[in-house]
Amino acid sequence: MSVTAQAPVSAAPAQPKTATLRYERIKPKIGARILNNKDELLHGGLGDDLRELLEIAGVLVFPAIDFTDAEQVAFTRTMGKFAPEGGDGENVTKITLDVKENPNSAEYLKGSLYWHIDGTRNDVPIRASLLSCRVPASWGGNTSVCNTYAAYDDLPEEKKAEIDNLRVLHAPWASLFYYEPEPSLAKLQGFQRVGELELPLVWKHKSGRKSLVLGCTSHHVVGIDHNKSAQLIHGLREWATSEQFTYSHEWKTGDLIIWDNTGTMHRAEAYDPNCGRMMLRTKLEGEEAFA
Ligand code: OGA
Ligand code: MN
Repeated sequence: MSVTAQAPVSAAPAQPKTATLRYERIKPKIGARILNNKDELLHGGLGDDLRELLEIAGVLVFPAIDFTDAEQVAFTRTMGKFAPEGGDGENVTKITLDVKENPNSAEYLKGSLYWHIDGTRNDVPIRASLLSCRVPASWGGNTSVCNTYAAYDDLPEEKKAEIDNLRVLHAPWASLFYYEPEPSLAKLQGFQRVGELELPLVWKHKSGRKSLVLGCTSHHVVGIDHNKSAQLIHGLREWATSEQFTYSHEWKTGDLIIWDNTGTMHRAEAYDPNCGRMMLRTKLEGEEAFA
């Protein structure tokens, strides 16, 4: 064997190798399970492919990926711009209804038990949320996600024409009544001070695709009869959250999911608030305004 034939192999510098994305779809209209391992994901080379798949599948599931806090932050950054929550920079945020663990936002998180989009108070909502499980609930506590692109696409054409240019007033105080039917006036006013925002019922994305903008912050459809308004908000929510468009994730410690916050709604399913369920969240900054 000649020396020159061997030389290129031994002289080649160690190149970080980008794995190819491996996944299986969960349902035709929602969900994909990612099969790559932790090292392949943290390498960063799969970020663009994951973003592309996220937009199609709505939710990506990483079973037993077991990221540390720092790894979840690093992985989040492979997919876009990290959106810090609270004042503590690039870190994970504890999501729990336990007031001892979460004195500031456990109350606010009660609204997460109902179908919603994160950040309907902002013109540019966050792009995606990543949620991982430290402690699963003792019972219940699945996170369910529905695909609002697919739900729009599958509407009859006459329904699309009816709703395409409607607008909905979104107000956080609307969701207060889901879990506290008789709030004090002071509490209602406190929620009302958070603000409100009129948003399109059908989001016409730059990509050309359309998705439904609904959820428990929807107060009313602007400028139409109030009975009709309630029928639209609740009828379309019932449609968008029907079995074919919905995936419900049963958590095991170490799992992580990502939902595309621009083409889905999600909610936590009921669980015992004192059971110690502990989830860790990171977010990707929004890139596109509701339009
Ligand atoms: C959220 C959220 C759902 C859950 O973190 O935005 O809605 O299952 N979480 O905890
Ligand atoms: Mn949420």
